[in-house]
Amino acid sequence: MPEFFYTHAGNNQARASAYFRVSPVAGSLGADIHDIDLNNLGEPGQAALRQALMDHGVLFIRDQQLSVEQLEAVTQRFGEFGVEPYVKPMPDHPHVVHVVKEASEQTPIVFGGAWHSDWSFQERPPAFTLLYGEDVPPSGGDTLFNNMYLACEWLSETLRDTLRGLDGVHSPEFGYGPNAKHNAGLESMKIVYGESVEKDVRRHPLITRHPETGREVLFANPVYTLGIAGMKAEESRPLLDYLFSVATAPAFTCRMRWTPGTLAIWDNRCVWHQPVSDFFGARREMFRTTVVGEKPTRGSAK
Ligand code: SIN
Repeated sequence: MPEFFYTHAGNNQARASAYFRVSPVAGSLGADIHDIDLNNLGEPGQAALRQALMDHGVLFIRDQQLSVEQLEAVTQRFGEFGVEPYVKPMPDHPHVVHVVKEASEQTPIVFGGAWHSDWSFQERPPAFTLLYGEDVPPSGGDTLFNNMYLACEWLSETLRDTLRGLDGVHSPEFGYGPNAKHNAGLESMKIVYGESVEKDVRRHPLITRHPETGREVLFANPVYTLGIAGMKAEESRPLLDYLFSVATAPAFTCRMRWTPGTLAIWDNRCVWHQPVSDFFGARREMFRTTVVGEKPTRGSAK
């Protein structure tokens, strides 16, 4: 019997802002932001933008004109830069990753092409990722996002209570370990794969408390959360698979159609993302930065 996932319209309501216009794009998360110039935004406008990010999980800030330097400046208004492992940043910009796929590439593989939250194996995973669309395909190449608060709330109180006492085991193995051959198909990006990844295997609580909103959230993702501490793979795999099936229910997702000059900003502490690999043969070019977050903390006392 399939589960009938649903959510309600109250999850993603816009609050009025004097600094920009907010249009929610789906029932669970995501909002288009219009009538704002990120190169000329004062402190009150920045505070309102951060509040909108807490309200909607991911923002699509339309009609911007950002050079790489301006993207760096916008990023630093949200916090300190994160550390970019396994992917070589731009030579003169150590915190900027050039996410590009040329029309001439020989495989449909795209960077980050499965549901994940960024670098969740780090001790302090990124709070935010900023992705600026420079050149986008005429159709396709959208990015999907989901709401991990709602995935957490969907679970029974009994399961949530069990999860509150457990840690997920996060590892770069699937994405960047010795068998991660798919990344060799990324012809225009310098991916450091095939390395020993043991040093980056780390445990984080499966249910965390978001440091800014105070809400409980499911903190695990299909690319990096490969097990549950203290469990056999035969036990953890079905449980993780169930959690991931809940988290990817369409009712908890939104889809962003890129336009050139859109800056997406998402909160990795409560949102996953996945670019859709449906533009093979067309060009797509983005610039990406991250903002370091806090060490994830348990939702409730263990
Ligand atoms: C990523 O940062 O995972 C890539 C997202 C995208 O290209 O849409």
